[in-house]
Amino acid sequence: MSNRRKPDDLRSHRWFGQSDMRGFGHHSRVAQMGYSRADYEGKPVIAIINTWSDINQCHAHFRQRAEEVKRGVLQAGGFPLEMPAIALAEVFQKPTTMLYRNLLAMETEELLRSYPVDGAVLMGGCDKTTPALLMGAISMNLPAIFMPAGPMLRGDWRGQFLGSGSDVWKYWAEKRAGNLTDEQWHAIEDGIARSPGTCMTMGTASTMTSGADALGFTLPGASSIPAADSRHGRLAAETGRRIVDMVWEDLKPRDFVTAAAVDNAVTAILALGGSTNAVVHMVAVARRAGVPLSIDRFDALARRTPLVANIRPAGKYLMEDFFYAGGLRALLSEISDLLDLSARALNGRTLGENIAGAEVFNRDVILPRDKALVAQDSLAVLRGNLAPDGAVIKPAAAEQHLWQHKGPAVVFADYNDMAKRIDDPALNVTKDSVLVLKHAGPQGAPGMPEWGQLPIPKKLLAQGVRDMVRISDARMSGTAYGCCILHVAPESFIGGPLALVQDGDLVELDVPARKLVLHIGDDELARRRAAWKKPPPRYERGFGALYQQHVKQADQGCDFDFLEGTAPTPEPEIH
Ligand code: FES
Repeated sequence: MSNRRKPDDLRSHRWFGQSDMRGFGHHSRVAQMGYSRADYEGKPVIAIINTWSDINQCHAHFRQRAEEVKRGVLQAGGFPLEMPAIALAEVFQKPTTMLYRNLLAMETEELLRSYPVDGAVLMGGCDKTTPALLMGAISMNLPAIFMPAGPMLRGDWRGQFLGSGSDVWKYWAEKRAGNLTDEQWHAIEDGIARSPGTCMTMGTASTMTSGADALGFTLPGASSIPAADSRHGRLAAETGRRIVDMVWEDLKPRDFVTAAAVDNAVTAILALGGSTNAVVHMVAVARRAGVPLSIDRFDALARRTPLVANIRPAGKYLMEDFFYAGGLRALLSEISDLLDLSARALNGRTLGENIAGAEVFNRDVILPRDKALVAQDSLAVLRGNLAPDGAVIKPAAAEQHLWQHKGPAVVFADYNDMAKRIDDPALNVTKDSVLVLKHAGPQGAPGMPEWGQLPIPKKLLAQGVRDMVRISDARMSGTAYGCCILHVAPESFIGGPLALVQDGDLVELDVPARKLVLHIGDDELARRRAAWKKPPPRYERGFGALYQQHVKQADQGCDFDFLEGTAPTPEPEIH
């Protein structure tokens, strides 16, 4: 192709193309690593941003995958350099990985900026790693390709399939209700996560890797391949080969992360019954590319998108079954009339070309449109005097009789207060109560942890209650379910109306009308607002202080104010 770049056009040429004193430093130090000039001269330098770590269980196979990516890069005539980045291990990192999503985004962007890099393979998958890597790579805007970790195999207990998260919530409720022995509980522990890879329910990991796939940021269908499948290793090598070509073609994220591609990704997420976390992450990802995605766009697309993936928590199956049923390409072909098929992916083809010929092999896993789990509204954005800037609910994960509900609030000041009192037999709570959790948002928690699925009080569990209306400014795990109103904005810690709710206040939820209303008079609300006192900052120094000063609210994607947007950043001077 005539517009292919030449070796002298490479960004890394600024480091390696000079024979001055600085060039000497660069050449001699590459030599120190055991490479001769023939290994890298005139070749695209490919950074493999690897979020492997001993503490990240979902990326346990990434050392081997990085070698497979390198094999592909070398085959295609590139020069691979692996660069580790913070692993963001869901489950282990406290208070929440969300506190560090923007840190990984910054690290990714600055790794790519400050080193002699021409293109990048982004290795992630465990929840926040995907949006973080995409955000950083979009902001740096060098050719980049996302290499998803892939879901783990189905969990197993007594011959039953177990799903990450979803079955934890389910069996934890049974254990709290006294229906499960310690021995059985430990056997579930041992069988639920039995291979490398990300959570294999439609949690945040598979939601975001599928979203990246539909966005055109992976090789087509990459997100559905289980981590332990040999096809995943071959995907890694193919990814390595493709990134080298992308460098010569100068195909960059902002060339394909367009408004149409973002709509395709959101539509795919909705058809999958994806995690509510996607709302926060996709807003942040899209805005890095200059696409002004709003939470209301999610609501608008949800009104026309059927939920056709029969995957837990909304459905029955797991990601392994989804792969065997044809995977994401098959699902997208099922809803192709809702997609912009002209959107280009990073393999240079259109979405329409990439899903051509895809077939559904199991109609019970990828459902026909007329048998969709939910015809529309798999996700909804609520507004009202309790959430002026919006809140999010996943109606498909809630008991339907709660979609329109009015009940008295039972208020918890923060997570510790909730943990202390939720099972107190004296707690004034009934199945009609509305549980309210404060100080669980971006600044209040901090980091907006997945605390939004408040537990059902034990005494109600014993009565057979399994779902109630719950409200917070927290997020909820994508593997969780229940009538949980999340991401209330503005959050309570900064004085959002949620801060003003008191025990006994009547709260009304109306999902069809998209309403969330606190039924107290304006005068009373004003009186409470005047009496409200801003809590002291949680951090005096360190990353927490930076986070608190700059994080935006949930409806804005929780990005840092100084990281969003597309303003140009200068290339480093080389002196
Ligand atoms: Fe890593 Fe769920 S814990 S994806």
